[in-house]
Amino acid sequence: MSDRVLMAPSVLSADFTRLREAVEVAEKAGADLIHVDVMDGHFVPNLTVGPPVIQALKRVTHVPLDVHLMIDDADSTVQWYLDAGADIVTVHVEACYHVHRVVQAIHAAGRAAGVALNPGTPLSAVEAILGDVDVVLVMSVDPGFGGQRFIPASAERIRAVRDMSNRQGHHVRIAVDGGIDVATAPLVVAAGARVLVAGSAVFGAQDPGAALSEIRAAATTSVV
Ligand code: DX5
Ligand code: ZN
Repeated sequence: MSDRVLMAPSVLSADFTRLREAVEVAEKAGADLIHVDVMDGHFVPNLTVGPPVIQALKRVTHVPLDVHLMIDDADSTVQWYLDAGADIVTVHVEACYHVHRVVQAIHAAGRAAGVALNPGTPLSAVEAILGDVDVVLVMSVDPGFGGQRFIPASAERIRAVRDMSNRQGHHVRIAVDGGIDVATAPLVVAAGARVLVAGSAVFGAQDPGAALSEIRAAATTSVV
């Protein structure tokens, strides 16, 4: 797998009445993925979008759709998101009953599988599944909302996941989500992150395309 840093703008912070334009602007600025945050009001204290919106986004998006499921019991509903056209499906280890089974379902559909970890979850929670997933998403805020402050300990957690993955000989791709901007991007990339999810720093900016390019430029100076 290439070591390139992938930019995954999160449309959570975009204008929901103009999602198509948000995707177009992000793609024009070189977005590698479009990150979609699915929240269920149980696992996280917020509700966002579900399969119909993913299906709609799929029709207007040319890069892979990176779907982040912040939902309880993803075991029961992961198929909805696969059917809606998600290209990468990331589930929380804290919210799956049988995480290997969920990952197998994602792979059976021919899609990429990710597992996400909340900032308070011990890294050992992904130890036994590292070899079976394409992505480990290290949350750098408690999930649920855009615009929260990056938790500094996250960089060390990224480094530890990278080391664990190297030790196991798997070289999983590490993603990071929460509080990523021009200041934090270099830190997480230096620690080993290769997918940067950024919401408010992109879509909260006056010029989202320029903001995306600036974060990428800041990030790529730190590739280790
Ligand atoms: C938060 C979501 C994020 C969110 C990030 O729970 O998973 O993807 O959009 O937003 P920022 O980049 O503003 O922290
Ligand atoms: Zn997310």
